[in-house]
Order: sequence, then C-alpha cells, then structure tokens
Amino acid sequence: MKVLVCGKGGCGKSTIVALLAQEMAKRKYKVLVIDNDESNIGLHRRLGMTRPKDFMNYFGGKKILFEKTKEITGKWELDNLPKEYLSEKGNIQLLSMGKIYEFGEGCACPINALSSRILEILDLKNGEFLIADTDAGIEHFGRGVENGVDSLVVIIEPSHDSIRLARKISRLGKQRGKPTYLVLNRVNHESKKLLLESMDKEKVIAAIPENRDIFMSGLAGKELNVSLEQIKQIADRLESEKRKARSNLP
Ligand SMILES: Nc1ncnc2c1ncn2[C@@H]1O[C@H](COP(=O)(O)OP(=O)(O)OP(=O)(O)O)[C@@H](O)[C@H]1O
Ligand SMILES: [Mg+2]
Repeated sequence: MKVLVCGKGGCGKSTIVALLAQEMAKRKYKVLVIDNDESNIGLHRRLGMTRPKDFMNYFGGKKILFEKTKEITGKWELDNLPKEYLSEKGNIQLLSMGKIYEFGEGCACPINALSSRILEILDLKNGEFLIADTDAGIEHFGRGVENGVDSLVVIIEPSHDSIRLARKISRLGKQRGKPTYLVLNRVNHESKKLLLESMDKEKVIAAIPENRDIFMSGLAGKELNVSLEQIKQIADRLESEKRKARSNLP
C-alpha cells in the first residue's frame, strides 16, 4: 500500500503522515515514510528520530540528479534501500528525498523527479506500507510524483483556499485514476458541518479536531505521542480499500 499525503501549506500533512505511520506500525506493518518536502525540517522529530542523510547525495547530489534518476531502473524492495540513508524507530523507517539548503540553488524539480522514480519502482510486499509527505500545493504533481502510489490523501483545514485546493487535487486524482480520500483537520462541530456541505461527503474518511497534545508537541518540536480515533479510521479505510482492490484482481 502506497499513499501520498498532500494539501495546502500548514494544513497538517506532516503531522498526519507521522500519526498514520505510527498507527500502521502498531498494526505490525513495516512502514517507510518518504519525506518528499524539500522544505520540511522537522518530520524526523515528529517521529522521534534523528534526521536521515539526504538521499539525493546517494546519487551524487542535486546537480546530477536528473541524469542519475534516468538510470534508476527495475524494481526495488524496501530491504534493498541503503541503510545509511534511513532513520529508524521500531517498525518505521524514514527516507528523506532531498532538501534545498541555500538561497538561489535552484528549484526542487530534480528532487521531485527522484521521488517520482523511487515511488514507482519500490515494490512493496504484503505487510509493508509506504506513506509520502509532500510539499504544500500541487507542484509535485507536475513531476508525476503520484504515478507510483495507490491513493492520495488530501488534508483539508477549515479555509476556502484549502477546499479549493482539495477539489483541484481530487480532479487530478480522477484524471490519473488514483482514488482520493479527504481528511478534515482542526475542525469543530461548525466548521466540520460547513466543510461537509461543500465537498463530496463520500470521500471524507475522517475529521480530526483541534488537539492540544498535537499542538504542544508541534510547538516543542517533539515526537508525537497521541492516540486518535480518527487516525484509526483512516487506517481502517485504507486497509479495507486495499483489500477490495486486491479481491478485484483477476
Ligand atoms: N489537529 C491538530 N490540532 C492541533 N494542532 C495541529 C493539528 N494538526 C496540525 N497541527 C499543528 O499545525 C502545525 C502545522 O502542521 P504540519 O506541519 O503537520 O502541517 P503541514 O501541512 O505539514 O505544513 P507544511 O505545508 O509547512 O509542510 C503544526 O504546528 C502542528 O503541530
Ligand atoms: Mg509538512
């Protein structure tokens, strides 16, 4: 099962990626978190890990990444990923695709191209779960980062911009044949009702309230240690969709 988490800036993508990774690890999956946000600086902390080495350096760095990416072929298994580029805690591993380090060093396109390739060639076995965190917005779609995943999870905070972006991503998902699920974040009774009125209810798989423990751990840059019913709902839904997809195979 490979899932790409996307949405507007600051809507809660990285938080939900970390919480879902923890939930799937509790369910005994071997979890790979792919950090595909070149501006992310704290995902490892949310997972209680040290920062992994930048995977683009495995291929010789950003300047030659486009060329090197073309040479990545075949199928890779999670067990074949170079250990020195993975941070690890329990059943969760974290791989960081690449970061922008300096002003004027150019765009994130080579990093997205690498992610797109890696997401495509990783061949997951039963009991393995891959979840990719993305940068804000939809630029990564321009490089086809979604090609290799089974489904998209769009996080929506209560704002008009967030709703509009979610609609756009849902359309992109439909064009690409990727099931798209919506998760409302930081909602109360009133905002949840309003959001549900303005989108396809069938696609909404969870509505997460404002949570003080999440907020405080985000403020302190600490490992998330929160058990939420809504995260279990997301995990249940992804598992059941995967089972359905598998039973439809010829
Ligand atoms: N349900 C919630 N309750 C309280 N705080 C939350 C909740 N969800 C996220 N936050 C807080 O909101 C902030 C932004 O969350 P997060 O970093 O996960 O967003 P993001 O979408 O990954 O942002 P970016 O676009 O910068 O990558 C963090 O400080 C996080 O702790
Ligand atoms: Mg983030």
